[in-house]
Amino acid sequence: MAKGYTLTEHILINYRWVFVCLFLLPISFFYDLWFYLRNWLIFKLTSAPKQHDNKVKYVQKQIREWASQGKKTHMCTARPGWQTVCFRIPKYKNTFKKIQVDLVDILEIDIEKQTVRVEPLVSMGQLTATLNPQGWTIPVLPEIDDLTVGGLVMGTGIESSSHKYGLFQHICLSYELVLADGSCVKCSKEEHPELFYAIPWSYGTLGILTAVEIKLIPAKKFVKLNYKGVFGSENIAKEFTRVSKDLNNEFVEALGFSEDEAVIMTGTLVDEGEVGKINAIGKWYKPWFFLHVKKMLNKNDCVTEYIPLRDYYHRHTRSIFWELQDIIPFGNNPIFRFVLGWMMPPKISLLKLTQTDAIKKLYENNHVLQDMLVPIETFQNSVRIFKETFNIYPIWLCPFILPNNPGMLMPKNNTKMLYVDIGLYGVPNVKNFKPRDDMRKIERYVTEVKGFQMLYADTYMSKEEFRNMFNHSLYDRMRDKYECKEAFPEVYDKVSRSARL
Ligand SMILES: Cc1cc2nc3c(=O)[nH]c(=O)nc-3n(C[C@H](O)[C@H](O)[C@H](O)COP(=O)(O)OP(=O)(O)OC[C@H]3O[C@@H](n4cnc5c(N)ncnc54)[C@H](O)[C@@H]3O)c2cc1C
Ligand SMILES: *[C@@H]1O[C@H](CO)[C@@H](O)[C@H](O)[C@H]1NC(C)=O
Ligand SMILES: *[C@@H]1O[C@H](CO)[C@@H](O)[C@H](O)[C@H]1NC(C)=O
Repeated sequence: MAKGYTLTEHILINYRWVFVCLFLLPISFFYDLWFYLRNWLIFKLTSAPKQHDNKVKYVQKQIREWASQGKKTHMCTARPGWQTVCFRIPKYKNTFKKIQVDLVDILEIDIEKQTVRVEPLVSMGQLTATLNPQGWTIPVLPEIDDLTVGGLVMGTGIESSSHKYGLFQHICLSYELVLADGSCVKCSKEEHPELFYAIPWSYGTLGILTAVEIKLIPAKKFVKLNYKGVFGSENIAKEFTRVSKDLNNEFVEALGFSEDEAVIMTGTLVDEGEVGKINAIGKWYKPWFFLHVKKMLNKNDCVTEYIPLRDYYHRHTRSIFWELQDIIPFGNNPIFRFVLGWMMPPKISLLKLTQTDAIKKLYENNHVLQDMLVPIETFQNSVRIFKETFNIYPIWLCPFILPNNPGMLMPKNNTKMLYVDIGLYGVPNVKNFKPRDDMRKIERYVTEVKGFQMLYADTYMSKEEFRNMFNHSLYDRMRDKYECKEAFPEVYDKVSRSARL
């Protein structure tokens, strides 16, 4: 029994899968089905794009009301805290003025300009389901189905094509926002460029986002994916850096299974698969992807598979990377997969909504969920330090290019540079894990090497330290210019550990 827990808590924690399997899975399934039907119907009737202007006007009306009522509190979107893809619930949702933002639709696909215009609550699953059958896709498609465009712009998004195209913000061409004075503006590299560069990572503290224009690229049927087992920490760092710099690779990702064992995956888009090598990894009865990848460590040669595009995009969705193995330990068992696998995964939002205090406590003290973005030349050193501090495996390794744009995220030396996202999700395997002290140590290290911590994750930094990690110079100027002080808190006050339940 885990230390410090009562028998009831012990049962709630260890037998949570009973509840998850009996209730959460079916509810999640019907929730998704309902959304799917709704989106299909609305897009067919094309009523949604016509309603966009009215919905934006409603956002404006609410903000003007807030002003006329004396600007009593800060504002935030009314989306409930449990619905977001982040394991915490923000405290401010209870006290701020909540702005209803019912903007859930894909507005327009412009084949000539190769752009798609979407509302902020459009999810990644919704976007691939609409675009891919029409032969299009977006260059960076973050993995989990339920991630929304708004959250990916205001927070960040990364995927295995980011070494080529950058973060999610770098494939966005324009943002439409309602500002603190109730006016609606569109910004891009040409129009209000300063505002445009200040939006990413501002976490909803410069205005309410109402539409985003995103670049499109042609989709193909398959990703031809090569899996290569690489051994020895130095070899892994070298090979990973080499493939990340090679832009013939459309996709690059690695899973580290120990300091000295990793599978590096590189992929390209193709229209034809080779018979016998096609693997629809997204099918419900297929093994969890990270376990499929792990098997490649035992193969002598590089293995090649052709994976249907959408299956590739959402390869870590069914097992939520490897988070689900702690909640449903037998989730990858073939019998389970055949019987209940078609309903997987339970929705992250519902998992959060139904967390008891005991589970929250358990997560706080025994669980890490972090993505650290560090310059690629620190790869080997960073992996070693994370191992010494947490010893969590597998780890997610995803390269990305960081252009030298103004904003929160300035690359080291002010030149375009390759970084790597090191994702740590799971239970630390070290003696005496101290969540606060250990995280603070890592945060200091990441700041020192000119890296960044993702905003969805717990941060234990002080405000001063946070401002040290993220360049606030443009952000502060935009907050003054657009009179944000009374309207929205600073980013730090939304993401710090003390601002979240
Ligand atoms: C289990 C898990 C898996 C993850 N997997 C990935 C992954 O594969 N790839 C990846 O890139 N990231 C991943 N993330 C991180 C994720 O990108 C961020 O948490 C992201 O910001 C969440 O998006 P969301 O759609 O839930 O947004 P939310 O959390 O709802 O939004 C983030 C912030 O943006 C602001 N915001 C949202 N919409 C608006 C709007 N219309 N106007 C103004 N402000 C707005 C809100 O203030 C909110 O605080 C993962 C996180 C978790 C917990
Ligand atoms: C960045 O600058 C430091 C010195 O400040 C130098 O050692 C390093 O090589 C530079 N890195 C790049 C990628 O230019
Ligand atoms: C932050 O960015 C500004 C440009 O927007 C730059 O002048 C300044 O030197 C940067 N600050 C730090 C600490 O890098």
